[in-house]
Amino acid sequence: MPYARITGTGGYLPPRIVSNDELAAELATRGVETSDAWIVERTGIRQRHIADPGVKTSTLATHAARAALEAAGLAATDIDLIIVATSTPDFIFPSTACLVQANLGTPGGAAFDVQAVCSGFVYALATADAFIQAGRARHALVIGAEVFSGILDWSDRRTCVLFGDGAGAVVLSAAEEPGILAAKLNADGSQMHILCAAGNVDRGEVTGDPFLRMDGQAVFKLAVNSLSRSAREVCEQAGVPLEQIDWMVPHQANVRIINFISRKLHVPDDKVVITVGEHANTSAASVPLALDVACRDGRIRAGDLVLLQGVGGGFTWGSVLARM
Ligand code: UT7
Repeated sequence: MPYARITGTGGYLPPRIVSNDELAAELATRGVETSDAWIVERTGIRQRHIADPGVKTSTLATHAARAALEAAGLAATDIDLIIVATSTPDFIFPSTACLVQANLGTPGGAAFDVQAVCSGFVYALATADAFIQAGRARHALVIGAEVFSGILDWSDRRTCVLFGDGAGAVVLSAAEEPGILAAKLNADGSQMHILCAAGNVDRGEVTGDPFLRMDGQAVFKLAVNSLSRSAREVCEQAGVPLEQIDWMVPHQANVRIINFISRKLHVPDDKVVITVGEHANTSAASVPLALDVACRDGRIRAGDLVLLQGVGGGFTWGSVLARM
């Protein structure tokens, strides 16, 4: 049975950067009060990238995919599986993965989306790993991509300051040596109400509430508890002591959540990749974007043991332990 290994990473952020001060000034014109001081103190976020109107998730995803392919030294024609994790697809259908495949000009392989909100990339990675281990794919593109700016209620300061747009991708390839060592995915649908965008289109009309709504404190508590438990479970599954992890690459929602988890697990700060200050929360894109940043700046190297963790709406959470 082949193993699956990450052979390349890529990321893409839309060029428009909006600082907290710029956002606060823009929101003030709508009568919404916030400040750089509040956002930094409560979340660690200093800025976010925002896609221009009309720029869709598939465009961001395709840029990230091309960067990951280049890093892996592969051509798009080598890819026989594309999985896109997103909660902000271009369309109801076809899937964003099919649009990415069309952009890459490589028809033929499997392409589908995974919807697990901010846990989406970890879910997609575990899925691609299972495909490769079963011999059903050799080279997979696994992408997390979002244009969350399109589902934010810009009059709700409790949510609109927290998110940004972007895409991250990895190439996962069949290998002789194990790369993905273990994966643990979980969900608790009974907590769906604490983070949701509970709208849809019915007979041409928007039904329900199409904007993202969140009970921030409930999400905060669940995120800390579920991810610290999940880290222990995935390490146990792999038979690897937690202390052996070289890098933790958690979902980038809030620096306080990340610090709570790493302290609970006794992971030193210099082993934790944090990009939330620059990217804000890019939902399914946050983990592969952070992984790409740390691979490209030389922190994460071949052979390193990396814990990837996602958590978000559903309620969903999950961990993947990977040897790079
Ligand atoms: O991807 C997963 C999704 N999301 C998350 O992981 C987020 C999880 N939750 C959090 O990160 C935090 O709960 C938040 C950052 C959302 C909020 O931080 P908090 O420390 O839990 O603040 P809070 O909700 O208790 O609000 C404290 C105060 C409130 O005012 P009062 O009632 O004390 O007068 C809020 O109205 O801060 C107020 N507030 C703001 N003030 C300025 C809420 N949002 C803002 C804002 N600017 N943007």
